[in-house]
Amino acid sequence: MAGIYIHIPFCKTKCHYCDFYKSTDFGAKTDFLGALKQEIAERKNELQNEAIASIYFGGGTPSVLKIEEINDILTLVGEHYQLAEDVEITLEANPDDLSEAFLEGLKTTIINRLSIGTQSFNDHDLKSMNRRHNSRQALTSIRAAQDAGFQNISIDLIYGLPNQTLAAWEANIDQALALNVQHISAYHLTYHEGTVFYDYLKKGKIKELPDESSLEQFKRLLSRLEEAGFEQYEISNFARNAAYSRHNKAYWERKKYLGFGPSAHSFDHQSRRWNVSSLRKYLQAMEQKLPYWETEILSEQDQYNDYMITSLRTKWGISTEYLTQNFAAKYVQHFQKEAEKYVASKHLSCENKVYKLSVEGLFISDKIMEELFYIE
Ligand SMILES: C[S@@+](CC[C@H](N)C(=O)[O-])C[C@H]1O[C@@H](n2cnc3c(N)ncnc32)[C@H](O)[C@@H]1O
Ligand code: SF4
Repeated sequence: MAGIYIHIPFCKTKCHYCDFYKSTDFGAKTDFLGALKQEIAERKNELQNEAIASIYFGGGTPSVLKIEEINDILTLVGEHYQLAEDVEITLEANPDDLSEAFLEGLKTTIINRLSIGTQSFNDHDLKSMNRRHNSRQALTSIRAAQDAGFQNISIDLIYGLPNQTLAAWEANIDQALALNVQHISAYHLTYHEGTVFYDYLKKGKIKELPDESSLEQFKRLLSRLEEAGFEQYEISNFARNAAYSRHNKAYWERKKYLGFGPSAHSFDHQSRRWNVSSLRKYLQAMEQKLPYWETEILSEQDQYNDYMITSLRTKWGISTEYLTQNFAAKYVQHFQKEAEKYVASKHLSCENKVYKLSVEGLFISDKIMEELFYIE
C-alpha cells in the first residue's frame, strides 16, 4: 500500500504563521494544473503494482480549485495508478471556501474526507493570525460539511498563541468537541523564519507564550479530548473510533508515497525526493524537460534517524525489535543507552520492548529526538 500527496500552491492571502510553499498570484493556475497532470502521468512507473490507500490534497489551499479541476486530477490519478477500493481521499479546505454549492459539488467527487483549517473559533485569534474567516464561518463551514454528508471530518486548531489564556483555549476545545467531528489536529504555534509572526517576535511586537502556559494548554487539550473519547495517536493528532488520518499514519509507518506539485516530497524507503519550492522553477523545468527535483539516497544512519522522527511521537512508539531486525548493533546500542536515561526520568515508558513518550516527554520531544539521533 502506498500514498499520493498533491500540493496545490495557491492561497488567496497569507496567514501570519504559515511557511508552507504557496503563492497569492493565481495567474499561473492553468499552467500549474497542466504541469501537475504531466508530473502525475510521467511518474506512474514509480508505484507500479502498489495499491494506493490514500490521496491527500494539501497546500496552499486545495479548496480554491473548481470541482471540475479536482475531478480532472482524480480521473488522471485513477488512470495511471491502482486505487485501493476503500482509498481515503482527503482535501484540505479553508472555511471561507466551503459554501453549500462547493460542498454539494465536492460530494459528487470521490473525495471522502475533509480537513478543515479552522485554527480557532475566536474572532480575536483569527484576526491576529490573518485568517480569511471569522468564528461564525468556522462553525457554519463544519456544520455545512456535515449536512452535505461528509462523515469523516478533521479540523485543525492552533494553540500557544501570544497572550492566549487557558480559558480561551479551553473554550476553543469545547467548541470543537461540540461539533462532533471524527478527528482533531491541534498544533502548538511555531514561529517560522520568514513569516509575519516571526518578524513581529523579533521586533518585540508580540511575545512567545511562556513554556508553563503552553504546557498547561497542552495538558488541558489531552485531558479534555481523552474525556470526550478521542485517542491521541500522535503528538498533535486525535481521532475518535480509530478514524486516524490514513495519509499521516502511512507516513509515520514509512510506507511509500509520491508527492506531486511544487515543494512536494516523495519517499520510497531507499531515497527521498523533494520538488523545487518555486512554481516558476517547477513550470520552467517541466517545459524544458529538466529536473525540477532533488533526490537523496538514504544511508543506514539516515534511515535510523528517519525511524526516530516518524515513530517517536506516535502512540505506536519505537520498537527495539524493529531496530534489531533492521539496523546494525551500534544503532540499537545507541538508542537503548539514550532511551534508558529518559525512562529513568519518566519522559519515556518501555513496555514489551516498545518505547513511548509520556505526557511530560511529549512536551520535550524535540530534545529527546535530538539525543536519540545517531550522528557520526
Ligand atoms: C497546509 S496548512 C493549511 C491548510 C489550509 N490552507 C488552511 O489554511 O486551513 C495545514 C495546517 O498546519 C497548521 N500550521 C501551519 N503553520 C503552522 C504554524 N506555524 N504553527 C502551528 N501550526 C501551523 C495549521 O493548523 C494548518 O491548518
Ligand atoms: S495556513 Fe493555509 S491559507 Fe494560510 S497561508 Fe498557510 S496554506 Fe495558505
